[in-house]
Amino acid sequence: MQPSFFDGLRPRIAAACAGALLAAVALTATGDDNHAIDEIAKYREMLKDGNPAELMEMRGEELWTTPRGPRAASLEQCDLGLGPGVLPGAYAHLPRWFEDTSKVQDAESRLVTCMTVLQGLSVEEATRNWTKPNSDIEALVTFVATKSQGAAIDAPALHPREAEFAAVGAELFFRRAGPLDFSCATCHSQDQRRIRLQDLPNFLDPKSAQSSMITWPAYRVSQSAVWTMERRLIDCIRQMRAPDADYLSDAVIALEVYLQKQAAGGVMQAPGIKR
Ligand code: HEC
Repeated sequence: MQPSFFDGLRPRIAAACAGALLAAVALTATGDDNHAIDEIAKYREMLKDGNPAELMEMRGEELWTTPRGPRAASLEQCDLGLGPGVLPGAYAHLPRWFEDTSKVQDAESRLVTCMTVLQGLSVEEATRNWTKPNSDIEALVTFVATKSQGAAIDAPALHPREAEFAAVGAELFFRRAGPLDFSCATCHSQDQRRIRLQDLPNFLDPKSAQSSMITWPAYRVSQSAVWTMERRLIDCIRQMRAPDADYLSDAVIALEVYLQKQAAGGVMQAPGIKR
């Protein structure tokens, strides 16, 4: 496997920048913070009966059931790990090893496999606009994740290849990289850290890891769009100033395997609402 986004990196020092960011990391709540957090809580409350992500879920369902692509097939026979067409709980068991592709796949890469194999679409077509709001893949992931509401996260990485991904994911989580010499753990391994008003989950604490992982994919108020977990992780990697991680890459999936393991037992509530 290719943990590509950390390849070829040497720790360099960008002291001023790192210092500023670390200072931000170290911030505790001020009055302004609390005000904004109250506002976010209010917004969440307001949206409780109507998360805009529901529109994506509906579009995802349509994409799932409509015959598309050169083969004019729907995705209703897509096997997300629990058998062809079985949706309930499937997301909560991902990522997992798939015999037919000989790959550890997450919801996103598996949906791309189904779109290419069943519908005959190219990978480019299947992932078109994945960085933009309202892409097909985002809608499909939202639909699939919603079907796991109430299911406990259970992706224990017991298959040897899954275990390998979990180990690599853990290594990537702790490995410092990029000009700022940050690791994921720099921001995500302590309680009550926050940056720009956002509470940062501590992925070493099962409860905190669960409370994050059960809510993805999530509608992000600041982006007016639903983000998938891959998009979330790729953006954190960008914020670390590490080289870009490729969409659907083994490195991103390895991180997901690790995070899902940390969050085992959390009961899915996706789609969530985030800053
Ligand atoms: C510089 C600090 C920093 C680093 C390093 C960092 N993150 Fe983040 N992460 C954040 C911030 C800030 C947010 C919340 C973003 C927001 O809402 O604007 C976040 C959010 C997340 C979330 C979603 C949390 C939620 O709200 O449920 C996940 C998952 C995550 N990060 C994983 C990672 C992983 C994995 C890495 C390493 C590849 C990483 N992060 C590196 C700062 C960081």
